[in-house]
Amino acid sequence: MNSNRLVIAIDGPAGAGKSTIAKKIADILDIEYIDTGAMYRAFTLKVLNSNIDINNLDEILKLLDTTTIEFKNRHIYLDGTRVDEEIRNNIISNNVSQIAKIKEVREKMVELQQKLAISNNVIMDGRDIGTVVLPNANYKFFLTASVEERAKRRYKELIQKGISNITYEQILEEIKKRDEIDSNREVSPLRKSQDAYVIDTTNKTIDETVQEIISIIEGR
Ligand code: DC
Repeated sequence: MNSNRLVIAIDGPAGAGKSTIAKKIADILDIEYIDTGAMYRAFTLKVLNSNIDINNLDEILKLLDTTTIEFKNRHIYLDGTRVDEEIRNNIISNNVSQIAKIKEVREKMVELQQKLAISNNVIMDGRDIGTVVLPNANYKFFLTASVEERAKRRYKELIQKGISNITYEQILEEIKKRDEIDSNREVSPLRKSQDAYVIDTTNKTIDETVQEIISIIEGR
């Protein structure tokens, strides 16, 4: 247990509301927010931009060796360039699970994530935070929601961004596929840590979930 610092882990599948909720909690508690999914997305962007075959492990690992990923004021930088917007493209969402299951990629990202949490009060969200990255976190939460609800949220988000060449059914299939890869990969799959609080956000607003988490942290 990190007794003199506040370390909060949030895990769960795509679309459960992790990042929106984690950001709000970081603001309320005035602590750092680290989006670990953004790190896997940033490296996926680099792989896709490099035009190498996504199945060519040797080339991917070579690329990994020369990659730097940093967070500054909640912005993500890939090799020194800010890539907040690019990493949210659907092409990244549809390829990131493939990259995130590579052992060496995970080792590098986990090392970085642990360094970021070493001296700060943090809330970190991802898939393996409570189980692998920060097993001694003071609080662990596992957010879930039905796959249909998660697809609905993601669809709404894309429509709001002005992306219209995609259907709800397509998004549902994409999310199911990501769940399948993230949950069944060999290295640190998406799992609930035994000591995590489980919150089903299907029928809850963002603020209701935020309040629930804050109440638990403040012991109310
Ligand atoms: O949270 P997100 O949807 O931005 O995450 C993108 C992908 O990265 C997700 O499909 C699984 C992977 N990921 C992971 O394997 N481990 C993490 N700690 C965070 C994300």
